[in-house]
Amino acid sequence: MSRREFIALSSLFLLFFGGVTSLRDVKLLVKPPVVIRNGTAALICSRDMQDAPLYSVKWYRGNHEFYRYTPLETPQTRVFGLPGIFVDMNNSTGSQVVLKHMDISLAGNFSCEVTADTSFATQIATKFVDVVCLPDFGPVLKADKDRYQPGEILRANCSSSPAKPAANLTIYVNGEPLYSSETSLHPSESGLLWSRVHADIKVVPDLFISGRLRVECVATVYDVYKKSAKLDFFTPEADPRPERITLNGSAARRGSFNQWILLFLVFFLPMLVSAEDYLDDGADYYDDKAEIRRAALTLIHL
Ligand SMILES: *[C@@H]1O[C@H](CO)[C@@H](O)[C@H](O)[C@H]1NC(C)=O
Ligand SMILES: *[C@@H]1O[C@H](CO)[C@@H](O)[C@H](O)[C@H]1NC(C)=O
Ligand SMILES: *[C@@H]1O[C@H](CO)[C@@H](O)[C@H](O)[C@H]1NC(C)=O
Ligand SMILES: *[C@@H]1O[C@H](CO)[C@@H](O)[C@H](O)[C@H]1NC(C)=O
Repeated sequence: MSRREFIALSSLFLLFFGGVTSLRDVKLLVKPPVVIRNGTAALICSRDMQDAPLYSVKWYRGNHEFYRYTPLETPQTRVFGLPGIFVDMNNSTGSQVVLKHMDISLAGNFSCEVTADTSFATQIATKFVDVVCLPDFGPVLKADKDRYQPGEILRANCSSSPAKPAANLTIYVNGEPLYSSETSLHPSESGLLWSRVHADIKVVPDLFISGRLRVECVATVYDVYKKSAKLDFFTPEADPRPERITLNGSAARRGSFNQWILLFLVFFLPMLVSAEDYLDDGADYYDDKAEIRRAALTLIHL
Protein backbone atom coordinates (compact mmCIF):
# COMPACT_ATOMS: atom_id res chain seq x y z
CA MET A 1 0.00 0.00 0.00
CA SER A 2 1.44 3.39 -0.99
CA ARG A 3 1.67 6.32 1.37
CA ARG A 4 -1.08 8.16 -0.43
CA GLU A 5 -3.41 5.13 -0.30
CA PHE A 6 -2.65 4.69 3.35
CA ILE A 7 -3.40 8.33 4.03
CA ALA A 8 -6.60 8.17 1.97
CA LEU A 9 -7.73 5.07 3.86
CA SER A 10 -6.89 6.51 7.23
CA SER A 11 -8.71 9.72 6.40
CA LEU A 12 -11.76 7.69 5.39
CA PHE A 13 -11.44 5.90 8.70
CA LEU A 14 -11.18 9.26 10.48
CA LEU A 15 -14.15 10.58 8.55
CA PHE A 16 -16.32 7.68 9.73
CA PHE A 17 -15.19 7.93 13.28
CA GLY A 18 -15.54 11.64 13.58
CA GLY A 19 -11.91 12.50 14.34
CA VAL A 20 -11.34 14.76 11.35
CA THR A 21 -9.67 18.04 12.05
CA SER A 22 -9.88 20.09 8.94
CA LEU A 23 -8.32 23.27 7.67
CA ARG A 24 -10.43 26.34 7.20
CA ASP A 25 -10.29 30.07 6.48
CA VAL A 26 -7.85 29.94 3.59
CA LYS A 27 -7.31 33.55 2.54
CA LEU A 28 -5.16 35.27 -0.03
CA LEU A 29 -3.89 38.72 0.85
CA VAL A 30 -2.04 40.79 -1.72
CA LYS A 31 0.35 43.54 -0.60
CA PRO A 32 0.08 46.11 -2.02
CA PRO A 33 -3.49 45.48 -3.28
CA VAL A 34 -2.75 47.44 -6.47
CA VAL A 35 0.68 46.87 -7.99
CA ILE A 36 2.41 49.56 -10.02
CA ARG A 37 4.02 48.28 -13.24
CA ASN A 38 7.47 46.77 -12.69
CA GLY A 39 6.79 46.67 -8.95
CA THR A 40 6.85 43.91 -6.36
CA ALA A 41 3.95 42.20 -4.64
CA ALA A 42 3.64 39.66 -1.84
CA LEU A 43 0.87 37.07 -2.15
CA ILE A 44 0.23 35.95 1.39
CA CYS A 45 -1.73 32.75 1.93
CA SER A 46 -3.14 32.48 5.44
CA ARG A 47 -5.06 29.48 6.81
CA ASP A 48 -6.29 27.89 9.95
CA MET A 49 -4.93 24.32 9.96
CA GLN A 50 -6.72 23.39 13.20
CA ASP A 51 -3.66 21.33 14.20
CA ALA A 52 -3.69 19.28 11.00
CA PRO A 53 -0.26 18.92 9.41
CA LEU A 54 0.35 20.77 6.16
CA TYR A 55 0.81 18.78 2.96
CA SER A 56 1.21 21.54 0.38
CA VAL A 57 0.50 25.13 -0.58
CA LYS A 58 0.28 25.96 -4.27
CA TRP A 59 0.06 29.37 -5.94
CA TYR A 60 -1.59 29.83 -9.31
CA ARG A 61 -2.10 32.58 -11.84
CA GLY A 62 -5.30 31.63 -13.62
CA ASN A 63 -5.03 27.82 -13.88
CA HIS A 64 -1.24 27.73 -14.03
CA GLU A 65 0.72 26.79 -10.96
CA PHE A 66 3.90 28.85 -10.54
CA TYR A 67 5.05 28.18 -6.98
CA ARG A 68 4.66 25.27 -4.56
CA TYR A 69 5.61 24.68 -0.96
CA THR A 70 5.76 21.10 0.32
CA PRO A 71 7.31 20.96 3.80
CA LEU A 72 7.95 17.20 3.65
CA GLU A 73 9.91 17.26 0.38
CA THR A 74 13.36 18.53 -0.51
CA PRO A 75 13.62 21.15 -1.73
CA GLN A 76 10.60 22.46 0.06
CA THR A 77 9.89 25.18 -2.50
CA ARG A 78 9.56 24.83 -6.26
CA VAL A 79 9.04 27.38 -9.02
CA PHE A 80 7.32 26.48 -12.28
CA GLY A 81 8.36 28.80 -15.10
CA LEU A 82 5.56 31.00 -16.35
CA PRO A 83 6.16 33.89 -18.76
CA GLY A 84 6.30 37.21 -16.92
CA ILE A 85 6.49 35.64 -13.45
CA PHE A 86 9.68 36.34 -11.48
CA VAL A 87 9.64 34.74 -8.05
CA ASP A 88 11.89 36.32 -5.44
CA MET A 89 13.06 33.06 -3.82
CA ASN A 90 14.81 34.90 -0.98
CA ASN A 91 11.52 36.23 0.29
CA SER A 92 9.17 33.41 -0.60
CA THR A 93 8.19 30.93 2.07
CA GLY A 94 5.43 28.49 2.93
CA SER A 95 3.01 31.30 3.58
CA GLN A 96 3.91 33.88 0.95
CA VAL A 97 5.37 34.21 -2.50
CA VAL A 98 6.97 37.47 -3.62
CA LEU A 99 6.79 38.44 -7.28
CA LYS A 100 9.13 41.00 -8.83
CA HIS A 101 9.05 43.11 -12.02
CA MET A 102 5.33 42.60 -12.48
CA ASP A 103 4.13 43.71 -15.89
CA ILE A 104 0.62 44.91 -16.68
CA SER A 105 0.02 41.69 -18.64
CA LEU A 106 0.19 39.84 -15.30
CA ALA A 107 -2.99 41.48 -13.99
CA GLY A 108 -5.49 38.70 -13.34
CA ASN A 109 -6.75 36.15 -10.87
CA PHE A 110 -4.21 34.65 -8.49
CA SER A 111 -5.02 31.75 -6.17
CA CYS A 112 -3.50 29.83 -3.36
CA GLU A 113 -4.52 26.28 -2.58
CA VAL A 114 -3.82 24.64 0.76
CA THR A 115 -3.90 20.88 1.29
CA ALA A 116 -3.82 19.25 4.72
CA ASP A 117 -1.74 16.12 5.12
CA THR A 118 -3.87 13.45 6.80
CA SER A 119 -7.23 14.27 5.28
CA PHE A 120 -6.12 15.84 1.99
CA ALA A 121 -8.77 18.42 2.65
CA THR A 122 -8.17 21.23 0.20
CA GLN A 123 -9.24 24.83 0.14
CA ILE A 124 -8.54 27.50 -2.42
CA ALA A 125 -8.70 31.30 -2.24
CA THR A 126 -8.65 33.56 -5.29
CA LYS A 127 -8.05 37.26 -5.70
CA PHE A 128 -7.90 39.60 -8.66
CA VAL A 129 -4.56 41.40 -8.70
CA ASP A 130 -4.38 44.56 -10.77
CA VAL A 131 -1.07 45.74 -12.17
CA VAL A 132 -1.45 49.36 -13.20
CA CYS A 133 0.50 51.75 -15.37
CA LEU A 134 0.15 55.33 -14.14
CA PRO A 135 -0.17 58.33 -16.47
CA ASP A 136 3.18 59.97 -17.34
CA PHE A 137 1.74 63.48 -17.04
CA GLY A 138 -0.89 65.20 -14.98
CA PRO A 139 -4.25 66.07 -16.57
CA VAL A 140 -4.52 68.95 -19.06
CA LEU A 141 -7.52 71.25 -18.65
CA LYS A 142 -8.58 73.66 -21.39
CA ALA A 143 -11.47 76.05 -21.82
CA ASP A 144 -12.64 77.65 -25.05
CA LYS A 145 -12.15 81.22 -23.70
CA ASP A 146 -10.20 83.16 -21.05
CA ARG A 147 -13.16 85.13 -19.73
CA TYR A 148 -16.92 84.61 -19.62
CA GLN A 149 -19.88 86.90 -19.16
CA PRO A 150 -22.85 85.64 -17.15
CA GLY A 151 -25.19 83.78 -19.49
CA GLU A 152 -22.39 82.30 -21.59
CA ILE A 153 -21.46 78.61 -21.70
CA LEU A 154 -18.01 77.68 -20.46
CA ARG A 155 -16.83 74.71 -22.51
CA ALA A 156 -13.99 72.82 -20.85
CA ASN A 157 -12.03 69.74 -21.85
CA CYS A 158 -9.77 67.73 -19.66
CA SER A 159 -7.56 64.86 -20.79
CA SER A 160 -5.25 62.49 -19.00
CA SER A 161 -2.26 60.81 -20.61
CA PRO A 162 -2.30 57.04 -21.36
CA ALA A 163 -2.59 54.67 -18.44
CA LYS A 164 -3.92 51.24 -17.53
CA PRO A 165 -6.62 51.27 -16.42
CA ALA A 166 -7.56 54.66 -17.84
CA ALA A 167 -7.49 57.41 -15.21
CA ASN A 168 -10.85 58.51 -13.80
CA LEU A 169 -11.45 62.19 -14.52
CA THR A 170 -13.73 64.44 -12.49
CA ILE A 171 -14.41 68.10 -13.15
CA TYR A 172 -15.10 70.32 -10.14
CA VAL A 173 -16.71 73.75 -10.27
CA ASN A 174 -15.82 75.78 -7.18
CA GLY A 175 -14.97 72.50 -5.45
CA GLU A 176 -18.25 70.75 -6.32
CA PRO A 177 -17.99 67.67 -8.55
CA LEU A 178 -19.86 67.91 -11.83
CA TYR A 179 -21.59 64.60 -12.39
CA SER A 180 -23.09 65.53 -15.74
CA SER A 181 -19.70 65.43 -17.47
CA GLU A 182 -19.01 62.53 -19.80
CA THR A 183 -15.73 60.64 -19.94
CA SER A 184 -14.55 59.01 -23.14
CA LEU A 185 -11.72 56.48 -23.47
CA HIS A 186 -9.26 56.34 -26.34
CA PRO A 187 -6.62 53.68 -27.09
CA SER A 188 -2.99 54.79 -27.36
CA GLU A 189 -0.22 53.27 -29.46
CA SER A 190 1.37 51.74 -26.38
CA GLY A 191 -1.74 49.63 -25.72
CA LEU A 192 -2.88 51.89 -22.90
CA LEU A 193 -5.96 54.10 -22.66
CA TRP A 194 -6.18 57.85 -22.32
CA SER A 195 -9.33 59.51 -21.12
CA ARG A 196 -11.07 62.80 -21.79
CA VAL A 197 -13.93 64.54 -20.11
CA HIS A 198 -15.93 67.39 -21.51
CA ALA A 199 -18.13 69.77 -19.56
CA ASP A 200 -20.47 72.60 -20.53
CA ILE A 201 -20.94 74.97 -17.63
CA LYS A 202 -23.63 77.63 -17.77
CA VAL A 203 -21.98 80.73 -16.31
CA VAL A 204 -24.25 82.51 -13.81
CA PRO A 205 -23.16 85.43 -11.59
CA ASP A 206 -23.43 83.26 -8.45
CA LEU A 207 -20.57 81.09 -9.70
CA PHE A 208 -18.10 83.92 -9.16
CA ILE A 209 -17.33 83.51 -5.50
CA SER A 210 -15.47 86.66 -4.41
CA GLY A 211 -15.07 87.39 -8.08
CA ARG A 212 -13.51 84.05 -8.93
CA LEU A 213 -14.86 80.95 -10.69
CA ARG A 214 -12.60 77.91 -10.33
CA VAL A 215 -12.75 74.90 -12.63
CA GLU A 216 -10.62 71.95 -11.61
CA CYS A 217 -9.98 68.57 -13.17
CA VAL A 218 -8.79 65.69 -11.00
CA ALA A 219 -7.32 62.50 -12.48
CA THR A 220 -7.17 59.41 -10.26
CA VAL A 221 -6.21 55.77 -10.62
CA TYR A 222 -7.69 53.93 -7.64
CA ASP A 223 -6.00 55.48 -4.62
CA VAL A 224 -2.47 55.17 -5.99
CA TYR A 225 -2.53 58.25 -8.25
CA LYS A 226 -4.10 61.69 -7.96
CA LYS A 227 -3.17 64.80 -9.94
CA SER A 228 -5.15 67.88 -10.80
CA ALA A 229 -5.21 70.93 -13.05
CA LYS A 230 -7.17 74.10 -12.46
CA LEU A 231 -8.32 77.23 -14.24
CA ASP A 232 -9.51 80.41 -12.56
CA PHE A 233 -11.90 82.83 -14.23
CA PHE A 234 -12.55 86.32 -12.95
CA THR A 235 -15.44 88.71 -13.39
CA PRO A 236 -14.56 91.82 -15.44
CA GLU A 237 -14.68 93.90 -12.22
CA ALA A 238 -12.14 91.79 -10.40
CA ASP A 239 -9.10 91.57 -12.61
CA PRO A 240 -6.46 89.45 -10.87
CA ARG A 241 -3.51 91.59 -11.96
CA PRO A 242 -4.01 94.73 -9.82
CA GLU A 243 -3.98 92.43 -6.78
CA ARG A 244 -0.42 91.36 -7.49
CA ILE A 245 0.73 94.96 -7.99
CA THR A 246 -0.59 96.05 -4.59
CA LEU A 247 1.45 93.28 -2.99
CA ASN A 248 4.64 95.08 -4.13
CA GLY A 249 3.27 98.52 -3.30
CA SER A 250 5.47 101.60 -2.80
CA ALA A 251 5.78 101.21 0.97
CA ALA A 252 7.05 97.67 0.62
CA ARG A 253 9.46 98.75 -2.07
CA ARG A 254 11.07 101.49 0.01
CA GLY A 255 11.56 99.01 2.83
CA SER A 256 13.32 96.56 0.58
CA PHE A 257 15.66 99.30 -0.73
CA ASN A 258 16.90 99.92 2.84
CA GLN A 259 17.43 96.23 3.28
CA TRP A 260 19.62 96.11 0.18
CA ILE A 261 21.88 98.81 1.55
CA LEU A 262 22.25 96.95 4.83
CA LEU A 263 22.97 93.68 3.04
CA PHE A 264 25.65 95.50 1.07
CA LEU A 265 27.23 96.71 4.30
CA VAL A 266 27.17 93.30 5.96
CA PHE A 267 28.70 91.46 3.04
CA PHE A 268 31.05 93.91 1.38
CA LEU A 269 32.53 95.84 4.28
CA PRO A 270 34.20 92.77 5.81
CA MET A 271 35.68 92.01 2.37
CA LEU A 272 37.23 95.48 2.19
CA VAL A 273 38.65 94.94 5.64
CA SER A 274 40.15 91.55 4.76
CA ALA A 275 41.79 93.11 1.70
CA GLU A 276 43.47 95.64 3.97
CA ASP A 277 44.51 92.93 6.38
CA TYR A 278 46.69 91.38 3.73
CA LEU A 279 48.73 94.55 3.77
CA ASP A 280 49.45 94.98 7.47
CA ASP A 281 50.16 91.48 8.83
CA GLY A 282 47.21 91.25 11.08
CA ALA A 283 47.28 90.61 14.77
CA ASP A 284 44.24 92.91 14.79
CA TYR A 285 42.62 91.13 11.86
CA TYR A 286 39.86 89.32 13.71
CA ASP A 287 39.04 92.22 16.01
CA ASP A 288 38.70 94.73 13.18
CA LYS A 289 36.51 92.52 11.07
CA ALA A 290 34.23 91.61 13.93
CA GLU A 291 33.88 95.25 14.86
CA ILE A 292 32.82 96.32 11.38
CA ARG A 293 30.34 93.47 11.24
CA ARG A 294 28.89 94.47 14.60
CA ALA A 295 28.53 98.02 13.35
CA ALA A 296 26.69 96.83 10.26
CA LEU A 297 24.41 94.59 12.30
CA THR A 298 23.58 97.50 14.58
CA LEU A 299 22.54 99.41 11.48
CA ILE A 300 20.15 96.61 10.57
CA HIS A 301 18.50 96.81 13.93
CA LEU A 302 17.91 100.57 13.62
C1 LIG B 1 19.21 36.31 -2.54
O1 LIG B 1 20.17 36.57 -1.51
C2 LIG B 1 21.49 36.37 -1.91
C3 LIG B 1 22.40 36.50 -0.71
O2 LIG B 1 21.83 37.34 0.26
C4 LIG B 1 21.84 37.35 -3.01
O3 LIG B 1 23.16 37.16 -3.45
C5 LIG B 1 20.90 37.15 -4.19
O4 LIG B 1 21.12 38.13 -5.16
C6 LIG B 1 19.46 37.23 -3.72
N1 LIG B 1 18.60 36.85 -4.81
C7 LIG B 1 17.54 37.55 -5.16
C8 LIG B 1 16.75 37.00 -6.28
O5 LIG B 1 17.22 38.58 -4.58
C1 LIG C 1 -11.41 36.33 -12.08
O1 LIG C 1 -12.36 35.60 -11.35
C2 LIG C 1 -13.66 36.16 -11.38
C3 LIG C 1 -14.55 35.37 -10.45
O2 LIG C 1 -13.97 34.19 -10.04
C4 LIG C 1 -14.17 36.13 -12.80
O3 LIG C 1 -15.47 36.69 -12.88
C5 LIG C 1 -13.22 36.94 -13.67
O4 LIG C 1 -13.62 36.86 -15.02
C6 LIG C 1 -11.80 36.44 -13.52
N1 LIG C 1 -10.93 37.36 -14.21
C7 LIG C 1 -10.01 36.97 -15.09
C8 LIG C 1 -9.20 38.04 -15.71
O5 LIG C 1 -9.85 35.80 -15.38
C1 LIG D 1 -12.86 69.87 -26.63
O1 LIG D 1 -12.95 68.67 -27.36
C2 LIG D 1 -13.76 68.75 -28.50
C3 LIG D 1 -13.87 67.39 -29.10
O2 LIG D 1 -12.61 66.88 -29.43
C4 LIG D 1 -13.18 69.76 -29.46
O3 LIG D 1 -14.01 69.87 -30.60
C5 LIG D 1 -13.09 71.10 -28.78
O4 LIG D 1 -12.44 72.03 -29.62
C6 LIG D 1 -12.30 70.98 -27.50
N1 LIG D 1 -12.37 72.22 -26.77
C7 LIG D 1 -11.32 72.77 -26.20
C8 LIG D 1 -11.57 74.03 -25.48
O5 LIG D 1 -10.20 72.27 -26.28
C1 LIG E 1 -13.09 54.89 -11.36
O1 LIG E 1 -14.25 55.18 -10.60
C2 LIG E 1 -15.12 54.08 -10.41
C3 LIG E 1 -16.35 54.58 -9.71
O2 LIG E 1 -16.02 55.30 -8.58
C4 LIG E 1 -14.40 53.00 -9.63
O3 LIG E 1 -15.23 51.88 -9.46
C5 LIG E 1 -13.15 52.58 -10.40
O4 LIG E 1 -12.42 51.63 -9.66
C6 LIG E 1 -12.29 53.79 -10.69
N1 LIG E 1 -11.20 53.40 -11.57
C7 LIG E 1 -9.94 53.81 -11.37
C8 LIG E 1 -8.95 53.35 -12.36
O5 LIG E 1 -9.61 54.53 -10.45
